[in-house]
Amino acid sequence: MGTFDDILGHGESLIKNENALDYDFIPKLIPHREQEQRQVALAIKPLLGKRNGRNMFIFGKPGVGKTVAAKHVLRELEEKYDDIHAVYVNCWQQNTSYKVAVSICDQIGFKFVQNKNTTELFQVVARIVNEASVVFVFDEIDKVEDTDFLYHLLEEVYRKTLLLITNYKVWLTDLDERVRSRLTLEQLEFKQYTPEETSSILRDRLGYAFPKDVWNDEAFSLVAKKAGELKDIRSGLFLLKESAFAAEEKAKRKIELEDVKKAFSKLDDFTIKNSEELESETKFIYGLVKENSGMKIGELFEVYQKKDGKSSYKTFQRKIEKLSENKFISTKKQTGKGGNTTIVEKKLTDF
Ligand SMILES: Nc1ncnc2c1ncn2[C@@H]1O[C@H](COP(=O)(O)OP(=O)(O)OP(=O)(O)O)[C@@H](O)[C@H]1O
Ligand SMILES: [Mg+2]
Repeated sequence: MGTFDDILGHGESLIKNENALDYDFIPKLIPHREQEQRQVALAIKPLLGKRNGRNMFIFGKPGVGKTVAAKHVLRELEEKYDDIHAVYVNCWQQNTSYKVAVSICDQIGFKFVQNKNTTELFQVVARIVNEASVVFVFDEIDKVEDTDFLYHLLEEVYRKTLLLITNYKVWLTDLDERVRSRLTLEQLEFKQYTPEETSSILRDRLGYAFPKDVWNDEAFSLVAKKAGELKDIRSGLFLLKESAFAAEEKAKRKIELEDVKKAFSKLDDFTIKNSEELESETKFIYGLVKENSGMKIGELFEVYQKKDGKSSYKTFQRKIEKLSENKFISTKKQTGKGGNTTIVEKKLTDF
């Protein structure tokens, strides 16, 4: 018997729809974010009456549903209204005004972007969207290198709502005064989910991803408990998928406690974001922390540079912060002779 005969042919997959476990899947309903979505809808509402909308600054810890809630609102707008453009830009990927402009052009159907500079592109954007209304979502707004694009949009687009999303509330205080005063942002915090909410969100996801009854109750509860402890829906989704794989590997028809425990051992390697490119850099830094646990952040940066790391110290620090917020590593402040420093440590998975 061939290698593949051995590992294949043990019946169908235990997962009905693997997409539903992806981090960028958008469910039909976003439980426990009804209030927040309503707030966003209220900011957009004036656009429906052909007036200017209000702008919002949305902040909150990683994994609290900011992106999924915003995308859900955009999707609803696209489905219901022909005269409102819905534009989503991830500023981690599009981190300059030029790149933002190109991305907006692409989304509103303007293809001839070659040989145009940023200012010209924004003139095109204004010409097109001013025939209707527009909602712009700028996600991970703290990652942009310049905020000229905000200025362009505020000056040149008439009927709009801008939603700026970030993990860092303080980003606002550094924002160019010219831009900030024009924005007049309403603030909306997405609070962390309680363990019960986390569990209910994950249970809801079971319905999309798995056939009925493949999850043993205790096994699911263990996933929900872990995700609740980590305050992290993403790790819950990861565990749901990995547990299913573990059960499939054994050609089982049901996912049980032992499969979840097997999945726990992989939690350590799990990465935060979905974009390949972002992942690799964050993963690289995460790998360095694991190899050099307990180092001062400055020393760790030297190791990073020796290994050909290209980010600036500031970016490096941000990624360390992000990893720490997502509980992959831990950081602690230490006061020594030379002043304060941060010690970066590998986090042990407690299983
Ligand atoms: N209320 C919810 N209902 C359904 N799924 C949710 C909900 N909240 C979060 N999720 C899921 O959890 C994951 C993380 O959510 P999301 O990407 O929206 O977080 P975020 O607040 O944007 O985090 P970050 O700051 O790291 O970007 C996604 O896969 C998302 O689908
Ligand atoms: Mg997000």
